[in-house]
Amino acid sequence: SPLEQQLKDLESFQVIAHRGASGHAPESTMVAYELAHEWKVDYLELDAQLTADGEVVVFHDDAIDRTSDGEGKINDYTLEELKALDTGSWFNEANADKADADFSGAQILTLNELFERFGDDARYYIETKSPQLNPGLEEALVETLEEYEMVENGRVLVQSFEQDSLLKVQQLNDDIPLIQLVWYYPSEEDETRLVEWTGVTPGPAEISDEDFQTVAEYAAGIGTNYIYEGQEVIDADFIHQAQENGLSVHVYTINETDEMERLMEMGANGLFTNYPDRLLKLVE
Ligand code: G3P
Ligand code: CA
Repeated sequence: SPLEQQLKDLESFQVIAHRGASGHAPESTMVAYELAHEWKVDYLELDAQLTADGEVVVFHDDAIDRTSDGEGKINDYTLEELKALDTGSWFNEANADKADADFSGAQILTLNELFERFGDDARYYIETKSPQLNPGLEEALVETLEEYEMVENGRVLVQSFEQDSLLKVQQLNDDIPLIQLVWYYPSEEDETRLVEWTGVTPGPAEISDEDFQTVAEYAAGIGTNYIYEGQEVIDADFIHQAQENGLSVHVYTINETDEMERLMEMGANGLFTNYPDRLLKLVE
């Protein structure tokens, strides 16, 4: 079945366009996804959030200030209000060398619009972003996935830093392949590293086989960072240990070619990148 094929594909290397081809065009806009799709990436990565009137939109930050001409929390606005914003011009101002007049006026994107545009001709790697700020997000997301038959067609992965959010998604539809995101960072108190992976209290960095197996009970893989403040926070052993426990390992967000090469050699199953063109060159 298409879903079995998708799970099989997860064993090989996956190119994941982070917020679209967001190194080249304004993140999370149609033009960024158009580029990534044209380049034939394996997954279009996106962050899902809810508007004040319950629409699922593609947007990373909790606030609209950085990537639009508005200000305030995204959840305080209706879709109609958000649609009036310009989510492209900030990119031209921040990246003079990549500026394109066509980016100006780019509208905030809904999940429906993305599915209408690419349908079954793409795969989608969807993060339930800030679940506490977006109550009802899991229900609205799964409803949309079912409406477009994305799950049985092997088109979607759902990722989250919050274990609870993933378990909620699983309760709503237990066929959806899930990815547990984790985040490693150095401890402020001592030389150790900490890992945050359930949205609860941070714990020590060493994930035991038992922890990996707990994750493997509900997830197909794990998504992790690689370098934090110049320090490598995962290594080849970590990747192999996760894989031995039945989990694919995807690493975010890798934009430099030398890091891409290193992680491929370490055996990562895929990378999130703002520059999928660079990664596709290495995969060829
Ligand atoms: O979803 C993987 C990676 O995107 C997580 O970090 O902040 O870019 O959503 P963030
Ligand atoms: Ca994300």
